[in-house]
Amino acid sequence: MPLSEKHDETKTYDDILNAGPPLNQLAKEFVTPTELFFVRNHTQIPHLQLDSYRLRVGGLVTRELSLSMDEIKNNFERRSLIATLQCAGNRRKELVSYKPIDDGLAWGIEAIGTADWTGVRLGDVLASAGISCAEAEHVAFLGLDTLMSDGQREAFGSSIPLDKALASEVLLAYEMNGEDLPLVHGCPLRVIVPGFIGARSVKWLSEIRIQEEPSENHYQQVGYKLFPPHINMYNVDYHEGMQLTKLPVNSVIVRPEDRSLMTAGKVEVEGYAMSDGEHEITWVTVSPDGGRSWQRAEFLNEPQLWTWQLWRAEFDLPQGQHEIVVRAWDSAANSQPETIASVWNFKGYVNNAWHRVKITLK
Ligand code: MTE
Repeated sequence: MPLSEKHDETKTYDDILNAGPPLNQLAKEFVTPTELFFVRNHTQIPHLQLDSYRLRVGGLVTRELSLSMDEIKNNFERRSLIATLQCAGNRRKELVSYKPIDDGLAWGIEAIGTADWTGVRLGDVLASAGISCAEAEHVAFLGLDTLMSDGQREAFGSSIPLDKALASEVLLAYEMNGEDLPLVHGCPLRVIVPGFIGARSVKWLSEIRIQEEPSENHYQQVGYKLFPPHINMYNVDYHEGMQLTKLPVNSVIVRPEDRSLMTAGKVEVEGYAMSDGEHEITWVTVSPDGGRSWQRAEFLNEPQLWTWQLWRAEFDLPQGQHEIVVRAWDSAANSQPETIASVWNFKGYVNNAWHRVKITLK
């Protein structure tokens, strides 16, 4: 999925754009340049009428709101936060090579990026609408893009628990890396839910509803649900799936790439690690020999909440084949499972098994 498509002017609204950066440019910088930020769309980008755009806020509120972009920008305090966004399908390709998965994009390790988001706090907008009853427990979002799911046309949507929606890190963002939010990333307004799977950060946001139950949207009730490895598309009961929220701790080797042919001697290993964002990454350990011996990686940025942790390690390795492995821990002592078998799930979500690359040194 080359990211060049993102800037390809021959692409039309009929194309569904999904793309990630080339691996030699992934995670090179702490804040991902916007042009290298992955894109995940379930359908075509909506045709927008920016002049008449309004955000509706309803459900269990004391007063319904209908806000223009000017009202959003002028009536609420401007807030910025650097946060990493990661798709639940990141690293699906490794799951697929262990056992086939019928659905979803075969992402490698590129469905992740970090941006400086600016907008207003979702909590401030909800406070202005007022929460009308004690039963309110979820906040649902709808985008302006619509698609057929289960025989019906509906907007892409999701929901998050009310306590997360009120947390200070959750933004309605209208800028990305200091510029207006680009169309592919959800212009004029999107939700940013740091620490949660990317699917909850709805783009081209049209409506927010406070409600008792999670959203009934296909992407909350069928898509983005996690099942244990013994469940498959034939024996699944979607009601039993876990609605994905927080991302598990993960770490990934970005360079060298899998199956690289390199020269024996000094081998530099670089990558990223990420947790649920509420906890910093404490350790990243790297093995040059398939997991027999380990070395602590050096951090390339100060650990901080809501973002990835970039790291590097260096080894002196002889000629031959080597398997490099990485695993991380966060400050709540969460770590990663060793095998793909233990995390495989038929929808291919949240793969956080130890990440391995094989290299040959000559
Ligand atoms: N919002 C809308 N309206 N439509 C979508 O298809 N994709 C979601 C989320 N928000 C999506 C959406 C998914 S699965 C992810 S991972 C992120 O957007 C990706 O955001 P990005 O394209 O800005 O990287």
